[in-house]
Amino acid sequence: MSEGKRLAGEKAIEFVEDGMIVGVGTGSTVAFFIDALAGIRDRIAGAVSSSEQSSERLRGHGIEVLDLNACGPIPLYVDGADECDRAKRLIKGGGAALTREKIIAEAAKTFVCIIDPSKEVEVLGRFPLPIEVIPMARSLVAREIVARTGGHPAWRQGVQTDNGNWVLDIHGLAITDPVSLERELNQIPGVVSVGLFARRAADVVIVGGDPVVVR
Ligand code: A5P
Repeated sequence: MSEGKRLAGEKAIEFVEDGMIVGVGTGSTVAFFIDALAGIRDRIAGAVSSSEQSSERLRGHGIEVLDLNACGPIPLYVDGADECDRAKRLIKGGGAALTREKIIAEAAKTFVCIIDPSKEVEVLGRFPLPIEVIPMARSLVAREIVARTGGHPAWRQGVQTDNGNWVLDIHGLAITDPVSLERELNQIPGVVSVGLFARRAADVVIVGGDPVVVR
C-alpha cells in the first residue's frame, strides 16, 4: 500500500511547472509528494499548505510556506483521499485536515488527487464520512445527521483540528448522490465543512498501481 502511495506521490511531480505556487494537501501519500518536491524546490515559487503537519515537512525541506491570502488563485493542488469514485468525487478528512484542504481545492485551477488502488470505490461511504464541527454544536449536528441521513455519527475523541474544532465520522452511509448530500450537510448550523469533495471534485486522479494510472 505504501508503495502505491509513493508511486502516486512521485508521479504528481510531472504536474508541477516552473515558477508555480503549489497547493499541498495532507497525509501519508502527500508526504511522498513533498519529499519529491524537495528535489525541485529551486524551481517553484513556494507552497500553500493544508495543515501544520504538511507545513512542517515542507519547511524541513527548505520549501517556503505561503499564506493563501497573499497568493490569489493557485494553479495546482495535490492531495490524497480516503475514497475516490469513478467521477473523481472524494471522501477526505481521515487526517482531520478537511477544511483547509477544501479551501485550497477551491482556490486551485487543477486538483490532482493521488491515491493507492485501495482507495478506489464504486460508491462512496464505506470509509466513515468526516465532518468538522464547532465544538458546542457536536450533539446538535450528530442528531441532525441521524435524522437526515440515517447514518451513525461517532465523535473522533481526542482529536482537535488545526482550526480548534472537532470531527464527527459518519458510519453506515452509501452515498449515491454525493453532490446533494454535501449540500444538505453543509446547511446544518455548526458544520464547518463536510469531507465530501463532490461539488468540487478532483480534476485528475493518479492511482499508484502497476502500472501507475493517470485518469
Ligand atoms: C487528510 O485530512 C485527508 O483528507 C487525507 O488526504 C486522506 O486521509 C489521505 O491520507 P493518506 O494519504 O495518509 O492515506
